[in-house]
Amino acid sequence: MALRNIRTMGDPCLTKICREVTSLTDRDRILIEDMLDTMYDASGVGLAAPQVGILKRIVVVDVSMDGDQPLVLINPEILSKDGEQTGYEGCLSVPGKSGLVTRPDHVVVKAYNENMQEIRVEGTELLARALCHEIEHLDGHLYVERVEGGLITNEELERIMNEES
Ligand code: NI
Repeated sequence: MALRNIRTMGDPCLTKICREVTSLTDRDRILIEDMLDTMYDASGVGLAAPQVGILKRIVVVDVSMDGDQPLVLINPEILSKDGEQTGYEGCLSVPGKSGLVTRPDHVVVKAYNENMQEIRVEGTELLARALCHEIEHLDGHLYVERVEGGLITNEELERIMNEES
């Protein structure tokens, strides 16, 4: 297990367009393992390679957060999206903050898995949100560009969630 340093907003790696992966090297396989370890360690639901300083089109996602459903997506592309959801979103590269973002409620993604086999992933709700968020990282975009009404701290978010429940 190896943890990588997570780059935060302001780091130029987070604004770059990442390059496609044509074949998976041993270094890429280690990168993927490290990205999963780093995501779980930070209690995230997704992590994109540029967040650890590698400008390749690789993301990992696990909305279960406990290692049950790890998804490794190489060269992911959104094939279709529909519906709409508005909710609070955060990013490991923007620590301690959240913001309201509207996303599709259903997406179908085409990608390659860790064996470079083509796969389709369909997601609704949190998985749809996470897929859109992570794929945008590969084109140098952060969710903060889409936030409605500004960023709030996680303490403020907790207060809002308690009021709603
Ligand atoms: Ni993010």
